[in-house]
Amino acid sequence: TTLATRAGSKLLAEAGDLVAATDSKRYHHNPYPVLERMRAKGPVYKGLSGIYALTSHSDCSQALKHPQMKVRPLPGKRDMFMTQTNALEGSFVLMDAPDHTRLRRVTAPAFRPKMMRQLRGKIEATTHRLLDQLGSEFDMMTDFAGPLPITVISDLLGIPDADTARFARYGMVIAEALDGLSTPAKVREYNAAYADIEQLFTRLMAERRTDPGDDVISVLVTAEAEEKVTTDELMTTCMLLLLAGFETTVNMIGNATVLFSEHPDQWDLLKAQPDLAPDAVEEVLRYESPVPVLTRFAHERVELGGGVLPAGVAVLFMIGAANRDPAVFPEPHRFDITRTRTVEHLAFGGGVHYCLGAPLSRLEGEIAFRAMAERFATIKLTGEPVRRLSSTIRGFSTIPVRV
Ligand code: HEM
Repeated sequence: TTLATRAGSKLLAEAGDLVAATDSKRYHHNPYPVLERMRAKGPVYKGLSGIYALTSHSDCSQALKHPQMKVRPLPGKRDMFMTQTNALEGSFVLMDAPDHTRLRRVTAPAFRPKMMRQLRGKIEATTHRLLDQLGSEFDMMTDFAGPLPITVISDLLGIPDADTARFARYGMVIAEALDGLSTPAKVREYNAAYADIEQLFTRLMAERRTDPGDDVISVLVTAEAEEKVTTDELMTTCMLLLLAGFETTVNMIGNATVLFSEHPDQWDLLKAQPDLAPDAVEEVLRYESPVPVLTRFAHERVELGGGVLPAGVAVLFMIGAANRDPAVFPEPHRFDITRTRTVEHLAFGGGVHYCLGAPLSRLEGEIAFRAMAERFATIKLTGEPVRRLSSTIRGFSTIPVRV
């Protein structure tokens, strides 16, 4: 994968070496016992179908940085991680050098620290406007965790106010499709949504070519004018940013909500010291990584601390295991926002594909958690949160809360 797609059913088949694949609901509910059993079999685990899986933090980070560990398989080899509909297809998260390098370089200026400083005030205003509209009981996902990142990414892309509702509605359909499309009606809905968003992006690009602003699309059309990117690449980059914005930070806020309701001592700590918000962000990302699995192909024999990956093999990076590796995180299954961290978790990946939006989602998380701590008297579930049964995104679709 990457961001959100691909590994899906294969991962479950792999886990099926250890636990009945039919037990997938239980696996999604709590994958950690399965991951621990995988870890117990050795750091470089070879599944029955020949796919390798890495569970240790050091092997994962080492392999993510290896120049011969690539997103695409060896020429002529099948990409078994690819799903039927993948809105990320053609975007640079699924490219290797040199195209990846070129497109990432063009997009990166939009995420520089200066841009983040400029966004802070706007994100704070959006956060408080959304919180002002809430009563004391609501669904965290539809009323806050979803709308905040979606509004932020709309601002970043410069989506006009008149189009934001449409953008949010269709963007959600495209994002949900990353879990797979179950029925013909879903496929039709997806295709219609995709066409609509494409039309919107096409219009915005045309507008920005004549009247550039300081949004990402303006940055991209400037690069297009300098012939650094093609119009198609511009479109896939916009789709990548849309999906990244819709699918990840959303789940980080949702996961935090459930974690704080389950760990009232940690919630009390955050309420007493809202300055702990940035530490809380890191611990939530470590403890429940929204992107739990990454994938790569070994283009040559790769030696890692924990074993060897033969040339040509497909590799799953079990981020949920690496982030609970006792070798680097003492008492890894304890949720502790005051934990001293000597190494970074791998929730944002590593190497050349390290999440471009990491500074943005850290900023959003910090602002959101601080505001929640300052404004919510309590954080209690009023019903069972509904977990998404996705192998590629770890999060919830519904979290009923009382604050
Ligand atoms: C890549 C996670 C938020 C934009 C990635 C990767 C991960 C990740 C694990 C690496 C994929 C791989 O190596 O295969 C997350 C998490 C987020 C988050 C956990 C929130 C908590 C965002 C946001 C944006 C963003 C808000 C932008 C709006 C990107 C982009 C890439 C990426 C453009 C591709 C980078 C490349 O291929 O060079 N993200 N992400 N992410 N992310 Fe994020």
